[in-house]
Amino acid sequence: MWPEYTREEAELDPDNVRVKKDIAAHYGEDALRRSWIAVCKQLEVLTRAIKEDGTGLIHEFCYEDFFRMTDVEKEEIKRRGCVVVRGTIPEETARSWFQDIKTYLQENDGVITGWPKEEPYILQLYWSRVQLGCRTHPRTMAVQRAILNLFNDDDDPENTFAAPLAYADAMRMRPPGKRFLGLGPHIDAGSLCRWGDPAYRQIYDKIFAGKPEEFDPFDFTHRKRGDPSYYPGADQSHVVRAFQGWTALSSAAPHEGTLQLFPDLRYGIAYVLLRPFFQPPESSADIMDAEKWTLNLDDPWFPGVWRHTPQVLSADAFPHMRLKECLAYIPKMEPGDTVWWHMDMCHAVEIEHKGTEPACVVYGAATPTTEMNVRYMKGQLQDFLNGVSPEDFRGGCYEKGLKGFPGEAAILNGEEGRRAFGFAL
Ligand SMILES: [Fe+2]
Repeated sequence: MWPEYTREEAELDPDNVRVKKDIAAHYGEDALRRSWIAVCKQLEVLTRAIKEDGTGLIHEFCYEDFFRMTDVEKEEIKRRGCVVVRGTIPEETARSWFQDIKTYLQENDGVITGWPKEEPYILQLYWSRVQLGCRTHPRTMAVQRAILNLFNDDDDPENTFAAPLAYADAMRMRPPGKRFLGLGPHIDAGSLCRWGDPAYRQIYDKIFAGKPEEFDPFDFTHRKRGDPSYYPGADQSHVVRAFQGWTALSSAAPHEGTLQLFPDLRYGIAYVLLRPFFQPPESSADIMDAEKWTLNLDDPWFPGVWRHTPQVLSADAFPHMRLKECLAYIPKMEPGDTVWWHMDMCHAVEIEHKGTEPACVVYGAATPTTEMNVRYMKGQLQDFLNGVSPEDFRGGCYEKGLKGFPGEAAILNGEEGRRAFGFAL
């Protein structure tokens, strides 16, 4: 199983107490307590449903239907925080990309680095023809735009932020038969910054104010200013990646090295945000009884938080999420299918891969046009032109030196693709 996070190995920076006390002083201890009880009660019901049929709660659409979703479906996607879009890339294209990338990897064997170090399959590769094509394919960009349009920004009623940027991320080529423990339950887009950065904290105002049911994860008004690298670190992104996502280039079913999600967005993140303020009861028999937890503002421990890396979660430290039973497998993915999940969502890459084929995915977040993101993209463009890994993922090889490095000719989708890539931003 994945590691358990205990107080013994925690980051116990005295400044953490100040962060807690600031929030409690601003919102009031009663409000925190009200939220805690309400969220744990909700989770009791929600985790029962997730345990019964978690995969069934993850909505899927075929590409065309995704643009015709009803308001009810839209609300469901928002509630779950994730969605699968079948055939985002036509299957034949995805299959040819799979061959293309395999050739590229063979031709550059021993040069491309990644994790695990000995036999990398999370590859530090950002500028291959396949990745460039996947990022700027008109259908990828259309899906990303639709996803970004789920958000609202009071400062931008026209949703100009919903023009997607081609954020460069890595890819995965995971061989069958190998266990992988490297990506247990976690939430990206920072950790302590969710509490410590005043701009980031404001996103979660309703949760701290005792009204978690009013928290809208799709309100972009403050979210665009929350800085995931407020506490800098090599694993912290400099970009607001509204939804993370990947495109499958090979098929992968549950138990074949795929993705697991906690498919309730609002109450998942609300629980993670409130958990550090409360201390469990003495008796383990009372753990699930939220009323028996006590508010403790003097403990510097934020479970699963090391300020320079993203938030991690574990079953015992976050008991009301019942993570052992409630990390739902996404449905079986076929080449060209995409999966998308909100930046506040708990997710994991499963330990086993019992399939027969490599599970190959190209990462690519739905990245809105914001001030922070545009700034990053200008740098990313230079990194691309120089053939080095982008700022969020320094340390890969010199890709310009790879055999078959495609350069900007591999960008698809005309002017829109080039704009997304950072030209003319
Ligand atoms: Fe992640």
